[in-house]
Amino acid sequence: MVSFCCPKYAAIFVFLAVFVFLLALFNMDVLEYIYVNRLLCKCLCHITLLTPCQFQHKVNSSYPLPKHHLQHRFFSFQPLSPEDALEERLLLDSIAWPETPSLSASLSLEQTTHPAHSRFTILPEKGGQQWHVGDQLEVMIKMYDFHGRPKKSGGDFLLARLHNRAFGAGVAGKVLDHLNGSYSAVFSLLWEGSAQVQVTLVHPSEAVTVLQRLTREQPDRVYFRSVFRSGSVSESTICNVFLRPTQQPLCNYTDLNTGEPWFCYKPKNLSCDARIDHSTGGINPKLKAKEDKLFKRGVNLKVSIKASGLTSVNVLPKMKEVKSSSVKSEPSGYYYKDAWRAIGDTTVSRFSTSSAISQCLKGKVVHLYGDSTVRQWFECLTAALPDLKEFDLHSSRQVGPFMALDYANNILVTFRCHSPPIRFTGVSAMALHSIANELDRVVGGINTVVVFGIWAHFSTFPTELYIRRLQNIRRAVVRLLDRAPGTLVVIRTANPKAMTRFVALTMSDWYAMQLDKVLRAMFKGLNVHLVDAWEMVLAHHLPHDLHPPPPIIKNMINVLLSYICPQKRS
Ligand SMILES: *[C@@H]1O[C@H](CO)[C@@H](O)[C@H](O)[C@H]1NC(C)=O
Ligand SMILES: *[C@@H]1O[C@H](CO)[C@@H](O)[C@H](O)[C@H]1NC(C)=O
Ligand SMILES: *[C@@H]1O[C@H](CO)[C@@H](O)[C@H](O)[C@H]1NC(C)=O
Ligand SMILES: *[C@@H]1O[C@H](CO)[C@@H](O)[C@H](O)[C@H]1NC(C)=O
Repeated sequence: MVSFCCPKYAAIFVFLAVFVFLLALFNMDVLEYIYVNRLLCKCLCHITLLTPCQFQHKVNSSYPLPKHHLQHRFFSFQPLSPEDALEERLLLDSIAWPETPSLSASLSLEQTTHPAHSRFTILPEKGGQQWHVGDQLEVMIKMYDFHGRPKKSGGDFLLARLHNRAFGAGVAGKVLDHLNGSYSAVFSLLWEGSAQVQVTLVHPSEAVTVLQRLTREQPDRVYFRSVFRSGSVSESTICNVFLRPTQQPLCNYTDLNTGEPWFCYKPKNLSCDARIDHSTGGINPKLKAKEDKLFKRGVNLKVSIKASGLTSVNVLPKMKEVKSSSVKSEPSGYYYKDAWRAIGDTTVSRFSTSSAISQCLKGKVVHLYGDSTVRQWFECLTAALPDLKEFDLHSSRQVGPFMALDYANNILVTFRCHSPPIRFTGVSAMALHSIANELDRVVGGINTVVVFGIWAHFSTFPTELYIRRLQNIRRAVVRLLDRAPGTLVVIRTANPKAMTRFVALTMSDWYAMQLDKVLRAMFKGLNVHLVDAWEMVLAHHLPHDLHPPPPIIKNMINVLLSYICPQKRS
């Protein structure tokens, strides 16, 4: 028996959907196609129990190319293939944020979300509920403006966490937007004893409007610079993914293999081949006057929301019968006694001595690729293992590349940063290697571990750029796993960070979270492992940090090592 919302009409509906779909194939642009495809997909998935993803892979390229792709005043780029374009559209749809209001003549700052007036309540409001390990805890969050009037629309960005400092316990909650000014936070109850709720407003919905507009209007608010040199002549010019058209000709450094765009203005007296380095040029987000007040620390930027009533519950031992709740918080893990425990198939072991770590890594090659949050892992491993000696490649500490060797145990660990838009300074033009191209040079095998983390430097750009980058990396991962199926591939996800107004405008957690959803969706179903940095930082008691502090990094390394050396189950 198939599951379907209204079985009687199922056959008619499928017939209609297929008909519309076929009709649509012949005369339409891609947006309509995708809409129809999603309708059809939803319905077929119900019937055949295919996941949307599986269906998506069955789509073949005999439909027209998109007409409405990322078109902008000064930039545009086309996805590489119709399949990529379709996936891009589905991903963008899947992260669509509710419509959010803008400050305007008719909407004053006082009418925006004010965390100090907003409250959360543990449900049921009347109390009297008994909680057991394995239950779900639900919290209702109601948002108010500066005048204390209830908000009527959604789109605020909230984070939620359940914790017990004394137990070193913490778990991330899942927030649901009811689009009417109220939100639910749902938590898994995973330990006995007290569990305290913490709800944080990261941005009011009106600030999300600003963040979205900045990316639309100022995707070049972070810009880059390259030095060109030949003999005694030297010049530097601005570079970016897209450059505003001027009289100046461009140098086109678009990667021929991956198609990823990169441009510099051509130096006046030098050729494009004379580029010698790459640096961050500057960061220049421009706000409208009043909008500043939407990003005030201590007021409406990452501020805790108070409870009306209790802030904690007492959790009793697990009952035999587990009640099922309609929404599951489904965290990937939680802290207990300050150690990360995974939920699911992996057991996270503690590699607390250097010999335990070298024992695990014996005979392995570990290649780390990405941004500074992955570089931290290189630093942690070399610090933890006295016999893992870093070879001096005369690289800058920020940029790398790095290489470390434990000769006796035959361990090699390398780090290389990802290609532009990397916001590092003084990267040699020769060292701008994309992760996808690097992966194509890895032989792979059971002794090879490939780790990448790429997210923080994409936050100011349209999501399409990130999708394109990940599509290329994923293709390279698939090729690697095809030729060397024993290779272990681990992805470090994004994480929340400390935020000032300036950080928010270029690297807000809101951007990071949106990119992170894309990353997870794109690698779902592949034989790769995630280190869930998002939850590991959110669930921990230490303050959010772009570069999480050592106790969190140690936990991440434990997760990584547990993938490399899984505990044998008896
Ligand atoms: C797509 O489908 C058409 C017709 O069914 C087939 O001829 C073509 O080979 C398919 N293309 C791909 C890339 O699978
Ligand atoms: C908002 O929607 C939720 C879910 O539908 C509902 O429980 C809640 O009562 C609504 N709140 C208001 C203020 O209408
Ligand atoms: C840049 O080079 C790529 C690859 O050769 C090419 O496809 C693209 O059209 C070029 N872009 C511009 C603006 O010249
Ligand atoms: C280019 O060369 C000319 C002539 O030597 C010189 O006047 C000019 O300053 C140079 N321009 C730059 C940007 O270096």
